Amino acid sequence: MPSQLVTEGERAAVHNANGESDAKQATVWPEARDDFVLTPQIEEVAERALAYLEAGFPINLAGLAGTGKTTLALHLAAQLGQPVTLIHGNDEFSSSDLVGSDQGYRKSTLVDNYIHSVLKTEETLRTLWTDNRLTTACRHGHTLVYDEFTRSRPEANNILLSVLGERLLNLPKLCHTDGGYLEVDPRFRAIFTSNPREYVGVHRTQDALMDRLITIPIDHYDRDTEVAIAVAKSGIAKRDAERIVDLVRGLRQQDAGGHRPSIRAIIMIARVVIHRGASYRPDDPIFLATCRDVLNLDAGSPPRKVGEPLARRAWICDGPHRAPADTK
Ligand SMILES: Nc1ncnc2c1ncn2[C@@H]1O[C@H](COP(=O)(O)OP(=O)(O)O)[C@@H](O)[C@H]1O
Ligand SMILES: [Mg+2]
Repeated sequence: MPSQLVTEGERAAVHNANGESDAKQATVWPEARDDFVLTPQIEEVAERALAYLEAGFPINLAGLAGTGKTTLALHLAAQLGQPVTLIHGNDEFSSSDLVGSDQGYRKSTLVDNYIHSVLKTEETLRTLWTDNRLTTACRHGHTLVYDEFTRSRPEANNILLSVLGERLLNLPKLCHTDGGYLEVDPRFRAIFTSNPREYVGVHRTQDALMDRLITIPIDHYDRDTEVAIAVAKSGIAKRDAERIVDLVRGLRQQDAGGHRPSIRAIIMIARVVIHRGASYRPDDPIFLATCRDVLNLDAGSPPRKVGEPLARRAWICDGPHRAPADTK
């Protein structure tokens, strides 16, 4: 079933005694969404991933930027039918950002001046513990989607080892309520996504954590899937989508690691051209300028020429339309 996440709405950051403000804001409920594309390729990978999750294993969707990992993660989370807690990897995280922390003290003062001449004051200080997102997910049996988890430093993610292994969350001493640890709710499931190690800002993950995850490699989708996504995300005709997809896939082959451009570029071109009321004809200057900008063909000095023959090839297939004289 397609998925969409609807947040619980903007909430004021009010810390109550259980202190769940941040974590509650990060809890979302999956809902059907009609622009999610399910082709045989996506169905196959989703079925495998879901089977691992249902069997109780955490998964890691690993791949290049723009290969549909986050979208697939949210789709899978929706299939599980539990509330979803979202975390986005961050280099500045410490484990307390995941688990929770002491948010200061609550001071209550009792003033007793029953006898006018005597004023008695009693003060109590109580630690205000705040559950963060991982704790909330473990406590309530949510599906955790930890997007781009390798952007957090490995030390911050150490806390996950016992959660995924022994299904126990170790709580810092400051959280007195749970006797030092929390038994993870049996409904808790975890979906991770990650980028290749050589990406800027990505940390190498400890083997012990990788060992606990079932990693599913995600590559750029096949042509039919990319065409279907372009149509679903922009509303363009299939024939126009095919032309953009072929152009982008051709350029991708020229990229050293086959990384870019991704499906995002396809969606951008399709939407911008619609927005500007232009056509997808190869002699439409708006279409050509949009392709050059989105695909970054003019970058560098001298400008990248690679787009020209590829653009021509894509247009030439088009029959009635003439290849542009100058696609520089
Ligand atoms: N199955 C799908 N159905 C519809 N749109 C998709 C699908 N997969 C990816 N997309 C679209 O492709 C773009 C990139 O997907 P995303 O999940 O953000 O990639 P990643 O997380 O790998 O960088 C997004 O605009 C997303 O909406
Ligand atoms: Mg993503």
